[in-house]
Order: sequence, then C-alpha cells, then structure tokens
Amino acid sequence: MAAKFFACFVAFVAVFNVAKSDPDLLQDICVANATAGIKVNGFACKNDAAVTEADFFFAGIANPAVINNSVGSMVTAANVMQIPGLNTLGVSLARIDYLPGGLNPPHTHPRATEIVFVLEGALDVGFITTANKLFTKSIKKGDVFVFPKGLVHFQKNNGNVPAAVIAAFNSQFAGTQVIAAALFTSTPPVPDNVLTQAFQISTAEVDKIKSGLAPKKS
Ligand SMILES: *[C@@H]1O[C@H](CO)[C@@H](O)[C@H](O)[C@H]1NC(C)=O
Ligand SMILES: *[C@@H]1O[C@H](CO)[C@@H](O)[C@H](O)[C@H]1NC(C)=O
Repeated sequence: MAAKFFACFVAFVAVFNVAKSDPDLLQDICVANATAGIKVNGFACKNDAAVTEADFFFAGIANPAVINNSVGSMVTAANVMQIPGLNTLGVSLARIDYLPGGLNPPHTHPRATEIVFVLEGALDVGFITTANKLFTKSIKKGDVFVFPKGLVHFQKNNGNVPAAVIAAFNSQFAGTQVIAAALFTSTPPVPDNVLTQAFQISTAEVDKIKSGLAPKKS
C-alpha cells in the first residue's frame, strides 16, 4: 500500500516537474519594469499602481510579417519583451511566417517546449533527439506539432504558397539559439580550428559558410 502510494506520489511529482518550465510566480502579477536596471530571475516588477491593460496586450502578430532575409522565414515574438505583463507567468507566443521555400533554420529554445498551430499553408517540420533520431512530419492548416524543450528543430515550407504558424512556449522568454549562427557568427568568433575539426572541413569552407550567414540580431 505504502509502496503504491509512493509510486503514485513520484509519478505525480514527475508529471508536474517535467511539465514545468519557468519557475512559478509568487504574486498575482509582476509586470516587467525594463528600466529598473536590475534583473532577478526575469525582470523586476513595476509598481502595481502603474500597471494598465496595455501591459497585457499586443497586436503585433495579427498580420503576416514582411520577409526580407536569406532564409525566407520571419519570427515575430510575443514574449515578455513585447508584453511586459508576461513577466513571471511562464508562457509566450510567436507568429512565424514562411515564403514558399522558406526555412526556419535548425535552432533550439533552451528554456521552453514549443507547440505550433498552422494558420496557413503547409510545412515539413522535425526535431532531433539527443540520440540523433529525427522525428519529422508534414503538417497543414489546422494541425498542431510539438518541439520538446531544448531539442534542435526546424520548419520548412516546401509548398508554393506562403505558410504561417502560431507558436506557444512554456516560458516568458524561451530563448533561441540558431545552430549555424551560434557556431559561425558569434562574437568573438569560434576559433577556425574548432570548426574545421568539428565539421571535418577546411578553413576555406568555414569562410564560405560564414560569408553566407548574417550575424544574429536578437
Ligand atoms: C522602474 O524602475 C525604476 C528604477 O528602479 C524606478 O525609478 C521606476 O519608478 C520603476 N517604474 C515603475 C513603473 O515601477
Ligand atoms: C528587413 O525588414 C526589417 C523590418 O521591416 C528592417 O528593419 C530591415 O532593415 C530589413 N532588412 C533588409 C535587408 O531589407
């Protein structure tokens, strides 16, 4: 009996701990004061008297983004940086738009699981586990797909019409590390002899990859 209870308790704790991402909040609201200059685990809270509805509102993902980069996709974030009221609440959204042929290149979110809902078009998506197994699927308007926390993943529009998704994250600020940009556009740069040895390529090939990648902006 005690063993059964213990097993149930362990399962319960496991479910709630595994599902969790950002730490839990300690008050109703803690709207980010981006000018406070101090960071706790997140942002300091604004004075409650200064909080308004606007702190919980964002209209910036209503329309498709203008896509003008070399990969043909654009992420429009709706996280704590755009919505200060999300501070300490452990959730956020993004809208991602893809031109025909557009790619959201392989990347990870160190602090969140991502779940996408396809608004328009169709995508070929995938994530890779730490055992290097690829899980991949073609998804279309209305479909949902999940990218587990921290795992490398991508979305590619192989169709001939634009595509768009709404992405949700269990973090106020999931963080994005684009694999190619992290390795080939960091400041200061990753030493060439690390890249040549890791990828088994020449310095000329390293330079060629670097020349095709714009430095990371966010
Ligand atoms: C934000 O933090 C700054 C610096 O501590 C403070 O002067 C200001 O009053 C704060 N703003 C609000 C709205 O709480
Ligand atoms: C792309 O669009 C963004 C936002 O509309 C703009 O800030 C940026 O300068 C543009 N980049 C290029 C290369 O046109």
